Amino acid sequence: MKLCSNIARSAAAVLFLLFAGSAIAGERPADIPEGMGILPVNVPVPTDNPMSAAKVELGKKLYFDPALSKSGQFSCNSCHNLGTWGVDNQATSIGHRWQRGGRNAPTVLNSGFWSKQFWDGRAPLLEDQAKGPPLNPVEMALGSEADAVARLQMAGYNAEFDAVFDKGGISFDNMAKAIAAFERTLNTPDAAFDLYLQGKGKISAAAKRGMLKVADVGCTSCHAGALFSNNKFVAFQYGSDTGLKSVTGKADDDHVFRVQSWRNVAMTAPYFHDGKTATLAEAVDVMARVQLDTVLSKAEVADIVAFLETLTGVLPSITYPQLPRPAGQTLEWHE
Ligand code: HEC
Ligand code: HEC
Repeated sequence: MKLCSNIARSAAAVLFLLFAGSAIAGERPADIPEGMGILPVNVPVPTDNPMSAAKVELGKKLYFDPALSKSGQFSCNSCHNLGTWGVDNQATSIGHRWQRGGRNAPTVLNSGFWSKQFWDGRAPLLEDQAKGPPLNPVEMALGSEADAVARLQMAGYNAEFDAVFDKGGISFDNMAKAIAAFERTLNTPDAAFDLYLQGKGKISAAAKRGMLKVADVGCTSCHAGALFSNNKFVAFQYGSDTGLKSVTGKADDDHVFRVQSWRNVAMTAPYFHDGKTATLAEAVDVMARVQLDTVLSKAEVADIVAFLETLTGVLPSITYPQLPRPAGQTLEWHE
């Protein structure tokens, strides 16, 4: 018995040595500034659009289906490519007839955590947002909601809508609901920072300096919480886009934009609503000057970038869906 307890004691000592200097697994390291949080596993779900596996699968098909564009060429995935962190890495996206829109495409990853969608917040829910692109003349350019439904019927979606929603389920609203349900699964947990926060992993010394610096200089007054955004809308005096004012017409809303998330920000260049800022280092430098009236040294910027890189999570693994199409029949919908 004595031998056993000695072994137990030395095993405890080894364990202590292993964990000395790093946090005990499961505990939040003391150096993490207040307000920084782990990305939750589940997003809030509206009561009128409950999740189900079949609905998510239908939403995935719709997300990848170019049938929802006039040319038959553009899908949600064209601009929000799920293989490249939900963005197209372009300043502004190319849509119908190779036209470019006025704003940078934000990522769809973790978008279920936003209280409002778009840079200016003009769509409250993912369900509202998903109705925009199919009818937007510079995105997918369909003529009307009825056109979109006709496309889905031609492609052969009737039975699947009936199975997911009630009979006669194919409609523009239900299309948006299915897409939104799919989007609520596109979350990126387990970033290096999340593992560090739970005492399960490490981040570099540079990243730690960056983590403390963003709290010190005040970035976290806006970029806080699990998303590293407080989900609020604030003025950003940069560029010619008037932001929220272009929606409300109010002088107070001039240049007001949503505080963007830092989740996966290292993978979603270029930056800001106009996509004119090419590198993350530049974006950090601009933010410090414009939002905080602070000039950061090159080394401080590099530390902050190292910290932001720890917020790159794990991409959801997506199997490319088989889209419904009628057998032996050409769909005459191309321009
Ligand atoms: C031609 C490119 C293009 C296509 C196609 C497109 N989007 Fe977007 N998407 C954008 C741009 C640009 C914005 C930002 C517009 C703004 O904020 O004014 C955006 C914004 C969004 C947002 C808001 C994210 C946030 O952070 O607020 C979501 C969600 C989204 N799109 C989903 C979709 C879905 C679903 C589809 C398909 C039905 C789709 N998009 C098709 C370019 C595109
Ligand atoms: C007063 C609130 C506020 C403060 C403080 C602030 N930001 Fe921002 N941040 C914003 C807003 C608003 C945006 C969206 C800007 C836009 O419209 O393009 C943003 C965007 C960003 C982006 C680009 C995200 C993207 O996807 O394009 C980065 C990176 C960023 N902030 C980093 C920082 C850093 C680092 C600091 C501290 C040095 C900081 N921010 C301080 C409000 C703030």
